[in-house]
Amino acid sequence: MTYPDVPFPDLPPEQEALFAAAAATYARYRSGVPDAAVRLLADILRGRSVPVLLDLGTGTGQVPLALRAAVPDLAHIEAVDVSQQMLDQARDALAPALDRCTLTLVRCAADAYRPLKPLPGEEAQAPDLITCCRSYHWMDGPAVLKMADRVAAPDATVAIMGDGSLWTLRADWTRALRGLIQRYLGSERRAGTCGSYSEPRRSYEEDLAASPWSDVTEHRILVARIWRPDTVLGYLRSTSFAGAELFGQRHAAFEDEAHTLLHTHAIDGSLVENAVFTVLLARRPGSAS
Ligand SMILES: C[S@@+](CC[C@H](N)C(=O)[O-])C[C@H]1O[C@@H](n2cnc3c(N)ncnc32)[C@H](O)[C@@H]1O
Repeated sequence: MTYPDVPFPDLPPEQEALFAAAAATYARYRSGVPDAAVRLLADILRGRSVPVLLDLGTGTGQVPLALRAAVPDLAHIEAVDVSQQMLDQARDALAPALDRCTLTLVRCAADAYRPLKPLPGEEAQAPDLITCCRSYHWMDGPAVLKMADRVAAPDATVAIMGDGSLWTLRADWTRALRGLIQRYLGSERRAGTCGSYSEPRRSYEEDLAASPWSDVTEHRILVARIWRPDTVLGYLRSTSFAGAELFGQRHAAFEDEAHTLLHTHAIDGSLVENAVFTVLLARRPGSAS
């Protein structure tokens, strides 16, 4: 089920357009959630009588897809995103994997999320786990954490996680690539066609400390990913800092130069990304884990 079938009036349209343009390349080129992170999240849901997941900024559904496989008795997934195109990709990925698990796709800004009222005779399905993977920085964080407190089960966990990008990675090949992007687009990191990226005003940890979710543990997972020049180009098309629309008519020229640059840095055709995937698990103080 998808609801609502019209956009929420308070959606920032340029943000929605940014992710709509990226949806197809995103599904193809973005890295999944590391196994160690999936195990950590699965452990939270395991043993619950009716495990329910609420995934905020679900994108192409990578988090629910991984948890569906890792938690066989997962009962319900509520997947929220501002972008209809992303939700379409998530539906296509999740539908074949659902079996008895139910899925609701919700198109809205995460802080504006409200669960549907249960039908007469049905129980409300409060989420046991609320996830934000590579998406929290796009949201009104404090408002999202308040919303999570309104809707979550009493002993629920909020997981905020992510792993930087090829823009932030410190490797020779990503430094050279970033320099090339800056030569085309200017020195500031772009965030779509309408503006540039600004660092969050507060850290995620500070947001959590000031919220009902102040009991926090941090998990750092080291991940080595192997890229090829063509997969890096595909990935760049899915980003807000080097999507095709930013380059206009110069996109083909940029890709030619980037391809040559990446080949120069590749060893046996491979480029290595040593990333740290960080998971913040947050609970309400005093709640059972
Ligand atoms: C970088 S993607 C991450 C997708 C997915 N969680 C993953 O890890 O692959 C960010 C997603 O957040 C969505 N998004 C951005 N702002 C949002 C908001 N305020 N509320 C809900 N979703 C939002 C975007 O449409 C996009 O699908």
